[in-house]
Amino acid sequence: MNSKVDTHVHTYFSGVSNYKVLRFPESITKPETQVDCARKNGMNVLCITDHDAVKGAFEAQKYAKQFDDIEVVVGEEVTSADGEVLAYWLNELVPPGLPIEETLDLIHEQGGVAVAPHPFSFYVACLRDRIMDLDLEGIEVINGGHVDAFTNMKAQTVFKEHPGRWAPFSGSDAHSIYTTGYNWTEFEGSGAEDFRKAILNKKTIACGQPAPAFKQVQWSIEVVLGAQKMLLKSLAGKLEADPDNPLISKMLSINDVKKIGGLIGGFLYLLPPIPFIAEFAATTWLKKKSYTLVNEIDTKFLTERDQAYKICVYVPVEFSDKMMDAIDEVVDPLYPGYRRAFSISEVTGTWKPVKGSHPYKGKPGKIEKVQENKIEFIVKEKDLKRVLMKIKEIHPYEEPMIDVSPTYAWKSML
Ligand SMILES: [Fe+2]
Repeated sequence: MNSKVDTHVHTYFSGVSNYKVLRFPESITKPETQVDCARKNGMNVLCITDHDAVKGAFEAQKYAKQFDDIEVVVGEEVTSADGEVLAYWLNELVPPGLPIEETLDLIHEQGGVAVAPHPFSFYVACLRDRIMDLDLEGIEVINGGHVDAFTNMKAQTVFKEHPGRWAPFSGSDAHSIYTTGYNWTEFEGSGAEDFRKAILNKKTIACGQPAPAFKQVQWSIEVVLGAQKMLLKSLAGKLEADPDNPLISKMLSINDVKKIGGLIGGFLYLLPPIPFIAEFAATTWLKKKSYTLVNEIDTKFLTERDQAYKICVYVPVEFSDKMMDAIDEVVDPLYPGYRRAFSISEVTGTWKPVKGSHPYKGKPGKIEKVQENKIEFIVKEKDLKRVLMKIKEIHPYEEPMIDVSPTYAWKSML
């Protein structure tokens, strides 16, 4: 039995992010809320990986103990001097700012596991080609926060080029409940210990896709609204100090002028449709940049391994479902999670039978017109002969028209 784990989730312990002049909370979500959300979305294990913090992960772990359907692994997304690295099964904080080699030693010395998040991101600090010579147990081949076309594809290509080198990870990088468990990692077994064994044996399976961009809009509105409420409370003198809450501590540490500036900035951001325009501008930039970078990727992993054939067969409309059912029975599904994948379009078939023929419709010497469906689909090379035999066997025409052309099928690289 396979279980699911979201390997990359944040809470409000991730603190405040600085981007140029902007300051905003990374997350306003409580650790307990992330546990509830992960359970609701069918996760059996949840890794809390706050930026340079482990307190929220310990809180989540304590909270999860009352449930028998989920376990929490204490993790951290450590900002090393050379880029971010995910650490799992920690007993204590790994300090940020150290060289990556020293950071990895500190993770391993306490029995932890180290994984490179979004290793080829072009806009988040990451390890890039350093992953080749570092002692990492895994790399993220699907990071849910990277909707650009390049980052995950590059990671998957490098992963494919080094079989058996790392365990593949898929983590949502959720900073709110909107994306927790949207993509996930699978492993054989049931709990955190089985997950750890799967990592060490390089037997994890990366699943899912990054969440759609509008979920990031929901997150940005949530953090700005949350910050606005705290700023207002703080200005009114009603925000109580809480040393365990890094957001409150941060709010209380800034002066009133900055608080008012933050309130105005937040208010302007929340004016519709500004969040959507901001998201649109960001995704347009990401797309443009990633389509330039994607040319760096070695395409042989997208093609050579996926030799396939495109088949096109013409059948009378009333016979289409029977044909598609029969084909579906003899082919391996090409797209994980889907069966009976065809494209159909309506066409008109025409012929003039000659003497001695046995036409499905029509009489010798007369032109016949029949409403047909053109059924197109792609099969793996190993299924080609079987599927052609099946089509010939059940096709109602004496001489069916069948086109076969070699192609390269796009499929999941994992
Ligand atoms: Fe992250």
